[in-house]
Amino acid sequence: MKEQNPLHKSIMLDEVIDILKPSENEIYVDCTLGAGGHTREILKTSNCNVIGIDRDPSALSLNDDEYKSYASRLSLVEGKFGDIENHIANLGIEKVNAIFLDLGVSSMQLDNAERGFSFRFDAPLDMRMGADGQTAFEIVNKYQEKDLANIIFRYGEERKSRRIAHGIIEGRKIKKIETTFELSDIIKKSVGGKYSKIHPATKTFQGLRIFLNDELKELYRVLIASEKLLHEGGKLIVIAFHSLEDRIVKNFLRYNSTSEKKYKNGELSHPFFYKNRRATKPGDVEIKNNPRARSARLRYAYKTELTSNKSDHNYRKYGGVDV
Ligand SMILES: C[S@@+](CC[C@H](N)C(=O)[O-])C[C@H]1O[C@@H](n2cnc3c(N)ncnc32)[C@H](O)[C@@H]1O
Repeated sequence: MKEQNPLHKSIMLDEVIDILKPSENEIYVDCTLGAGGHTREILKTSNCNVIGIDRDPSALSLNDDEYKSYASRLSLVEGKFGDIENHIANLGIEKVNAIFLDLGVSSMQLDNAERGFSFRFDAPLDMRMGADGQTAFEIVNKYQEKDLANIIFRYGEERKSRRIAHGIIEGRKIKKIETTFELSDIIKKSVGGKYSKIHPATKTFQGLRIFLNDELKELYRVLIASEKLLHEGGKLIVIAFHSLEDRIVKNFLRYNSTSEKKYKNGELSHPFFYKNRRATKPGDVEIKNNPRARSARLRYAYKTELTSNKSDHNYRKYGGVDV
């Protein structure tokens, strides 16, 4: 097991390094820098270069001293990974050797009460990963009942979405819903009855977070861009944490990759080839040490020399959902 940052335990670090096989002078993009766990391990493993992207400005300044020691091999970019083409072009780079994503929020974001991501802490309703865009407060207090129900159902996969949306509308007639605890109480009252292991606000909070950070479209955009940006033989490696994300990755690779065997036999019909079509899951030891790893699914593929047209891609075809 590799050394871990106490603020955020990196997921499937050994597996990522094993697939990536960092090599001298190659360029890798870590699209989800977070606490820098994967980036630091990659930089330690070989004399390679990393471009670390995060939309959350606090992630970029987290390991200042250590990052300074890698200054000649590490470029930090504040921005969305959906804009990866621009970020890479701005650095004067055309192609890279790998694009890596470890999706979702970091433990630092979840455990920082002020960010308003969690119903475990009382805080203003925010939930933005970066500094731009609508907050959860605006959505919960402004959106119509039907739209709230759709957000909670489609992005949170919450079956009781209509009841919860109705509860929100009734609640905000009395006063604006300002905090995570206020929203969580409304959800608890709306769904009624006893609840077991999963807190009744879990799915609604997930739905609001995914919607307001536009997480699924961001994922779609970076997958499409990866085709253009990867060198032949370059690697696309994605760790997803829930079915909405994993479905998009799985479908993208299903439509756009062929097996290694067919590729090596001269079948040149796809922009990627895979060695393993199935998702890789974390091992038992990792899950025991870090229960958050339980739902992680890692998928990866290698770039071929073919690049399809942008028009071949379709968000809905890959399982993307809209409100
Ligand atoms: C799970 S954490 C990554 C943890 C990191 N791999 C580590 O080991 O420390 C995900 C990070 O991705 C960032 N992120 C999520 N969506 C993003 C997007 N569309 N563009 C840029 N960064 C994003 C979040 O702000 C968060 O810091």
